[in-house]
Amino acid sequence: MTADVTDLMKKLVSLCKRRGYVFQSGEIYGGLQSSWDYGPLGVELKKNIETSWWNFMVSARPDIVGMDSAIITHPDVWKASGHLKNFHDPMVDCMKCKGRFRLDHIEGDRCPDCGGPLTEPRDFGLMFKTQMGALEDDSATVYLRPETCQSIFVNFRNIVTATRQKLPFGIAQIGKAFRNEITTRNFIFRSREFEQMEMEFFCLPEEAEKWFEYWIDERMKWYYGLGIKSGNIRTRSHDDSELAHYANSCFDIEYTFPFAAGGWGELEGIANRTDYDLKAHIEESGQDLTYLDQINKKKVVPYVIETSGGIGRTLLAVLLDAYREEEVEGRERIVLGLHRTLAPIKAAVLPLSKKLSGNAIEVFDLIRPHFPVQFDETGSIGKRYRRMDEAGTPFCITYDFDSLDDNSVTIRERDSLDQIRIPVETLIEKLKDLMDNGWSAEQ
Ligand code: GAP
Repeated sequence: MTADVTDLMKKLVSLCKRRGYVFQSGEIYGGLQSSWDYGPLGVELKKNIETSWWNFMVSARPDIVGMDSAIITHPDVWKASGHLKNFHDPMVDCMKCKGRFRLDHIEGDRCPDCGGPLTEPRDFGLMFKTQMGALEDDSATVYLRPETCQSIFVNFRNIVTATRQKLPFGIAQIGKAFRNEITTRNFIFRSREFEQMEMEFFCLPEEAEKWFEYWIDERMKWYYGLGIKSGNIRTRSHDDSELAHYANSCFDIEYTFPFAAGGWGELEGIANRTDYDLKAHIEESGQDLTYLDQINKKKVVPYVIETSGGIGRTLLAVLLDAYREEEVEGRERIVLGLHRTLAPIKAAVLPLSKKLSGNAIEVFDLIRPHFPVQFDETGSIGKRYRRMDEAGTPFCITYDFDSLDDNSVTIRERDSLDQIRIPVETLIEKLKDLMDNGWSAEQ
């Protein structure tokens, strides 16, 4: 990593801690490597991303339904899916420096870090195993799911029966997934516990290509809707050597993560999984997971187009995209220019002086039922603006001494720093308009 990249990541990680977005898990005990806890603003941002995804993928569409499955999954699911067989990496350890490396990342037979001798390769399973029940033998082994989508395939028949959905249709899910990754780094980009937003779109085999292209476009629209700048996001087709065992074609949506090799890192994968998974579960379970095509009067095993993104990676991309440092009237300020729909706090009420707090709290109480809002009376007004800029709050509402006479307040917009003065009685209406339509130059 170059010094600039390290510096940017350090600054972002520090802001995340300072403002309550993301904390190192178990920090007071030295921290648990690659585990992260979302703080008060982080959890709101995460929820806003999830809600946006759910609205876009499920609520707004008649052809997609949702589900929420168990994390601890029947072991046969992973036998059928191919994970027990395929989901591991051969690893070697350096006998001198104790470093551990993926065999396919090593050239020659000596340690890439210190030149020491290497052990024979050993398989390193990526699934977290645990035991269910009192017995601790093999019959009690269960797995934490390494992806959320398998539960969708396993529930395919239940959902078709319950909802009477007709092809083409999708099933969507948001939830935790667990992978015992060999190397974890770059903050929340690659962790061992993370959240996925996955949608499996079932269609007739002959229509799979059409839907594959459709979903690449739709998913890009969603990322643009989060306010991600167009030059910072792209799609890239996998070549044959990169394809997962289940896919016959795959596109990644990539973001310009500053630490990523080649400048681009994966945000989401869109794959044509063919009928691989349903067929595998039909074979393993002996159950009929076919779909009765009423028009052609025949049973088919649908093809599946999958969209699979990570919440942590989306959150990191959104934060990186929003982070900026600038100078205003000779003073530096750090701003998170988050899109207003994602911002954890939509508005902050700031009395100019503590003497005005009683009246300003009435304004705060007025807004509270409508929007996530904060009240801050501590420190100079400049300091409070800067705290809110760093937190990504789009609108600050200042209550000053004139407010006592004219019952009006000033709204300051985070990015332009423009201000307007409006009567308190129209404040909610104005804020609703700003949340819907944004701040325009002619305010
Ligand atoms: N069902 C397909 C699947 O799981 P994947 O490419 O392995 O595909 C999909 O994962 C998405 O999940 C990735 O694009 C990424 O956003 C997220 N993801 C995967 N592994 C991750 C990890 N270790 N930490 C954080 N996010 C991860």
